[in-house]
Amino acid sequence: MKFQKICVIGLGYIGLPTATTFAAHGIEVTGVDINQNIIETLNRGEIHIHEPGLRDGFVSAVQSGRFKAATKPEEADAFIIAVPTPFQENEYGSHNGMTYKLADMRAVISAAESIVPFLKKGNLVVLESTSPPRTTLDLVVPILARSGLEAGRDFHLAYSPERVLPGQILRELIENARVIGGITPESAEAGYELYSTFVKGKIIKTDATTAEMVKLMENTYRDVNIAIANEFSRLANKFGVDVWEAISLANLHPRVKILNPGPGVGGHCISVDPWFLVEAAPELTPLIYHSRRVNDTQPHFVVETVKRALGSLNGKRIAALGLAYKPDVDDLRESPAAEVVHLLQHEGAQVKAWEPFKPNANMNGIHMSPNLEDAIRDADSILLLVRHTEFKQLSPREIAGKTSAKIIVDTVNSWEGEAWKSSGFEFFRIGDSKSPNS
Ligand SMILES: NC(=O)c1ccc[n+]([C@@H]2O[C@H](COP(=O)([O-])OP(=O)(O)OC[C@H]3O[C@@H](n4cnc5c(N)ncnc54)[C@H](O)[C@@H]3O)[C@@H](O)[C@H]2O)c1
Repeated sequence: MKFQKICVIGLGYIGLPTATTFAAHGIEVTGVDINQNIIETLNRGEIHIHEPGLRDGFVSAVQSGRFKAATKPEEADAFIIAVPTPFQENEYGSHNGMTYKLADMRAVISAAESIVPFLKKGNLVVLESTSPPRTTLDLVVPILARSGLEAGRDFHLAYSPERVLPGQILRELIENARVIGGITPESAEAGYELYSTFVKGKIIKTDATTAEMVKLMENTYRDVNIAIANEFSRLANKFGVDVWEAISLANLHPRVKILNPGPGVGGHCISVDPWFLVEAAPELTPLIYHSRRVNDTQPHFVVETVKRALGSLNGKRIAALGLAYKPDVDDLRESPAAEVVHLLQHEGAQVKAWEPFKPNANMNGIHMSPNLEDAIRDADSILLLVRHTEFKQLSPREIAGKTSAKIIVDTVNSWEGEAWKSSGFEFFRIGDSKSPNS
């Protein structure tokens, strides 16, 4: 099967780099998004997300004449769906006292519906959006059947999870191993051929539901392991231990690899995807459920740590450094750092946040500083929430000359406590109640 033209539905962090990469490898791509502003931005030759290397790749895709953006799909050899699958904002499920979040599949439904008028015999449809188990079979197949064509017989249908790391998406798209789950072996084979266009990592064929489970298992594994690290940070705090020291010692065991605690788990994937498994089978997922709860409540533990450092928070001025959900990205979705700021404000603190990757973000009730200097100038305390490289590189001596703050709280173990102390600061870290200051 030869793929000459594809439609990529959803042009966000996954869809746009994917579309750009296909275009760079000789395929004609129509990128589709329902957001008119995004389409206009792209058709002006600009991009709407921050991802290293993407601007250059996108500009050359446009210049090659192989990329265009539109609000509706058109006929193509293959359709890739990369639309969001968040959880529902106000609806919850419950089972035996567990209250859990529910997947919001509306974008997948409408993306699949948008393909129906253009689907032809011999096409391939690939769902890339992270989805609950059996979505491809139980949700997508019936929608595409409205075309009058039968999935697996008249056209190919596959699920292929995306596991790229924001910040390194363009490299990882090409180098990572990719799983392709077909609803038939022929569908998996068609997916294999499509992604062979550029994937240099291994491409492994399986069935669609296994591929869906693989993605959810990967992120759930991370979430559960971060939860235990976060729980250790709380225990260390209670027992006068420095969790960072304890973890580094425990990890000397050849078969132990404890992850880092932090202010919580955010982003569009790890804090969301485990809920898909809980929703699908709450009676089978108590560990996954409780891990989610631990990570979702970790911002409260950060607030406790700030209180330990500052006493009452009422009227205290805090400079919050970083609102992204992880280092060196501009993605603020589900960010635990933003949750920490809201909780501090709830306790009466006056918080100024500085997020270098998105200084103008509209963060619903959070005061965004235009620069670092503004955030720290009149602060009582500097609270580090994200391990951005540029924060890591800050010099305590220089900061001392720019701030009234005397107290540092590091929630990500990014800074050398001794360097800050020798520049006149008190230094606190989460999960460390051992050292004199912390
Ligand atoms: N961002 C990541 O690092 C990452 C990694 C792995 C998997 N994923 C998964 O990939 C999927 C996409 O994530 P993302 O981060 O690219 O999302 P995103 O929000 O950045 O982009 C999705 C785009 O889809 C558009 N859209 C929504 N409904 C549409 C429709 N019916 N038709 C056309 N466009 C539509 C939105 O306007 C948006 O521009 C999600 O399921 C996510 O869980 C994301």
